Amino acid sequence: MDELVALCKRRGFLFQSSEIYGGLQGAYDYGPLGVELKNNLKAAWWSAMVHERDDVEGLDASILTHRSVLHYSGHEETFTDPLVDCRACKKRSRADHIEDGKCPYCGSDSLTEPRPFNLMFKTSIGPVDDGVDIAYLRPETAQAIFTNFKNVVDSTSRQMPFGIAQIGKAFRNEITPRNFIFRVREFEQMELEFFVQPGTDEAWHQTWVESRLAWWREQGVSSNHLSCYDVPKEELAHYSKATVDIMYRFPHGVEELEGVANRTDFDLGSHTKQQGELDIQASVQPNTDSTAKLAIQDRETKQWVVPYVIEPSAGVDRGVLAVLNEAYTVEQLEDGKERTVLRLPAHLAPIKAAVIPLKRNHQEIVSKAQSLRSDLQRLGLGRIFFENSGNIGKSYRKHDEVGTPFCLTIDFESLETDTVTVRDRDSMKQIRLETAELPSYLATNLVS
Ligand code: GLY
Repeated sequence: MDELVALCKRRGFLFQSSEIYGGLQGAYDYGPLGVELKNNLKAAWWSAMVHERDDVEGLDASILTHRSVLHYSGHEETFTDPLVDCRACKKRSRADHIEDGKCPYCGSDSLTEPRPFNLMFKTSIGPVDDGVDIAYLRPETAQAIFTNFKNVVDSTSRQMPFGIAQIGKAFRNEITPRNFIFRVREFEQMELEFFVQPGTDEAWHQTWVESRLAWWREQGVSSNHLSCYDVPKEELAHYSKATVDIMYRFPHGVEELEGVANRTDFDLGSHTKQQGELDIQASVQPNTDSTAKLAIQDRETKQWVVPYVIEPSAGVDRGVLAVLNEAYTVEQLEDGKERTVLRLPAHLAPIKAAVIPLKRNHQEIVSKAQSLRSDLQRLGLGRIFFENSGNIGKSYRKHDEVGTPFCLTIDFESLETDTVTVRDRDSMKQIRLETAELPSYLATNLVS
């Protein structure tokens, strides 16, 4: 983990948030290469979950969430972790992270009994902070999918089975954020809510677990490092009938990468059943509109059904950590030297190709490299980088370390023959191609 964290900072993947002020715990900023990698991972998910299927619609809902939503979803009451206080050092810990009954900070065994601590971030809406007009930063993107269920069904005429997918930020006031970007307070989720006929839910649950495992393998995650964990009844979230966690062997241990839950009709049912209830604080408005019943009408039988929901819910940041960890390799070269190489699948690589002039100040070589870069950039294959360090060996080392699949070098021969050398990141082999051949060569070889 330490080596990965160092690489991420040195090469501009990830920085501690608010670092110049000592750092904001549980928050990280994605740097120039990190944002490209993260966007590529999200694009791969969106493509697999929305574009390549014919039964999923997308959504991008607000982060600020009406209090009623999280009241009726059960989060106000039950979205908690058990908190213990250390009487000696006053630090707080998650009860399930305590080992041998001792405070992880000072080792004291004088700890309070665990009490529930709600993980949601609250904020006030409008200019008056009177504790009434509050809203939450969403703790999961899922709820806005449920509350927009009717909008999406009415505007798309979908029938079961179908899904609604969303990628976006979520927030949890974790008691102890830790392990780099694994457990953070501000994070991003890629969630699908897949609506099915009750009774078909268990088969769909299994299908989605398999489909999601296959997707992670396509992102370069080795099957040897993936496993499934059937969450025992006593550990299930309040909405779940059954959850399979897809586990990954992170540098700090085997932990959840994605949860695939059978949420039954819990959420659509809760947001429907509360119609007419007026029993909580004024700011929590019940939904009194009877047309907002979150059900779907079967075209043939005309029956209204509240669908069951299968939810594959993946953490983007955990995904970034997993693909970085898988790709990170330190190799022994024949000359006894070491090389660090990020063997990312090409579709995830932050930079697809670096165009490198052999001589930094040679005007003709530099300008040919610049114009090749802009020509290749226009192909829409992803970021093409102009690398003019003047030291070819150093440029190759840098691009190996950040996972750039190809380095294209413009040398003196390039000026004579309109060719470039193409160096492959993984084999380090070089071939010479005519510049006219590059678009099809890159298009073919950048597909993972
Ligand atoms: N929507 C499931 C979760 O956030 O864990």
